[in-house]
Amino acid sequence: MKFFADTVDIDAIKDLADLGMLDGVTTNPSIIAKSGANFLEVIPEICKLTDGPVSAEVASTDFDTMMKEAEKLAGLADNICVKLPLTEAGLKTCKHLTAQDIMTNVTLCFSANQALLAAKAGATFISPFVGRLDDIGLTGMDLIEDIVTIYDNYGFETEILVASIRHPQHLLEAARLGADVSTLPPKVIKQLFKHPLTDKGLADFVKDWESTGQSIL
Ligand code: G3P
Repeated sequence: MKFFADTVDIDAIKDLADLGMLDGVTTNPSIIAKSGANFLEVIPEICKLTDGPVSAEVASTDFDTMMKEAEKLAGLADNICVKLPLTEAGLKTCKHLTAQDIMTNVTLCFSANQALLAAKAGATFISPFVGRLDDIGLTGMDLIEDIVTIYDNYGFETEILVASIRHPQHLLEAARLGADVSTLPPKVIKQLFKHPLTDKGLADFVKDWESTGQSIL
């Protein structure tokens, strides 16, 4: 399972890279807007922090402008992955970029049929948004199960990139289902380390070691 960081926070990305928990980065216009970062400045900076794919999303919705934006984004760094919305124009752009060997991440996927279209368009990654389906009372991980089945049935090479992850349970279920990638807010990655029995067990080890009066150094 590859871990992508779903953020433009440079410090958080560096921290995850130091932990060996960074296989790539995803961003989107809302993350950029919330961060206040300059998009065309922060993306090249992020691309230097990982050898993995860095998803940068087009801002337009028509094919011609998407192609222009995509080619500009692809020129920012070798590991740029152009993020495209799952629309007719987005998939037409995906097909053209794939023909140019430019990585693509088709986003805002909410149905298995949409994921099937993205694979047929040659997407490098498909981003089904599990949290947003949960938010409306559906079960986002059911979509992941369907996509895994469909992609396996036909041998599609598009990688399933589980997105809109809200908590560690989403990651666990994605891993059980065999998704290729999960893109995670840094705080969720940090939650993965935590377990109360680990904390208690370590405190006990420290206390018992101290009782021996010994030192390793
Ligand atoms: O990568 C997509 C992700 O950022 C969307 O997450 O929480 O806005 O549904 P969210």
